[in-house]
Amino acid sequence: MDFENKNIVVTGAAGGIGAALARAFHLRGAKVVVSDVEGDRLAELARELESARAGSAWAVSADVSTEEGNRDLIASARAIFENPVKNESGIDLFFANAGVGSGTTLENTSEDDWNKAFDVNVHAHRWAAKYLLPHWLERGSGHFCSTASAAGLLSQIGSMPYSVSKAAAVAFAETLQITYGDRGVRVSCLCPQGVNTDMLRQGDVPGVGTASSVVRAAGDVLEPEEVAEFTAQAIEDGVFLILPHPQVADFVQRKAADRDRWLAGMRKLQARVLGT
Ligand SMILES: NC(=O)c1ccc[n+]([C@@H]2O[C@H](COP(=O)([O-])OP(=O)(O)OC[C@H]3O[C@@H](n4cnc5c(N)ncnc54)[C@H](O)[C@@H]3O)[C@@H](O)[C@H]2O)c1
Repeated sequence: MDFENKNIVVTGAAGGIGAALARAFHLRGAKVVVSDVEGDRLAELARELESARAGSAWAVSADVSTEEGNRDLIASARAIFENPVKNESGIDLFFANAGVGSGTTLENTSEDDWNKAFDVNVHAHRWAAKYLLPHWLERGSGHFCSTASAAGLLSQIGSMPYSVSKAAAVAFAETLQITYGDRGVRVSCLCPQGVNTDMLRQGDVPGVGTASSVVRAAGDVLEPEEVAEFTAQAIEDGVFLILPHPQVADFVQRKAADRDRWLAGMRKLQARVLGT
């Protein structure tokens, strides 16, 4: 996909990977609606992009943990992008990137944290796709991208709701591509390992360390700009599974080749990093 003049929505864009994705797409000529629950940094990002090119960036606040939040965001973005003169309207690419890292072990995670993980990390993708698809199927094109995680492919230690919800996000992206791929809908799923963002820096595992120590033990931590550049290139190349950390592809193969050996290795990693 070529980004020039494309209409793109990025959620979770107030900072981290989402803001970097919006900048990378905008630099390649796209018009972007950036969205988040967090308003101040979002408005600042839209101003920055708009000052680089007039009529190319808008901030829309939305809470994607509800169906209404997704429905209203998509309606607002479509209204912004509507161009009656060129008979164009619509969102060309929707990037469901917002995510939360709530919860730890089964006994230490509340129902609220499980629900929050599933609402933002999985159901938000489903609700967005539900409101995007009628238009995409009618015109025979549209690109849905989601940020899942290497945790969804490899089950990250330290947070059960995160790993389980991200695995569901990968499965949702796969089934979306299988179900609608022959009707013009393209899907890409971004699965990074460690990325230097607020989520990585702030994610405490109570009593045992931080998300940072868990993720750093698994490999290199990339900057959000590196992930965004890699992702933009992968979307241009039409790739489904986007793996900015090359070792993740290797780990996925090892897991598939011998699941028992891989599980034993993960238990050893957990004992070494978390002491449990
Ligand atoms: N940082 C990492 O190491 C890493 C690794 C793999 C995957 N990811 C995923 O990347 C995505 C982006 O995270 P990040 O690392 O940039 O962290 P981040 O905390 O900087 O960004 C997450 C953004 O999502 C927004 N958000 C949370 N709940 C929301 C809601 N209900 N509605 C709208 N926006 C909401 C937050 O306000 C925040 O701006 C997430 O899906 C995360 O799970 C991160």
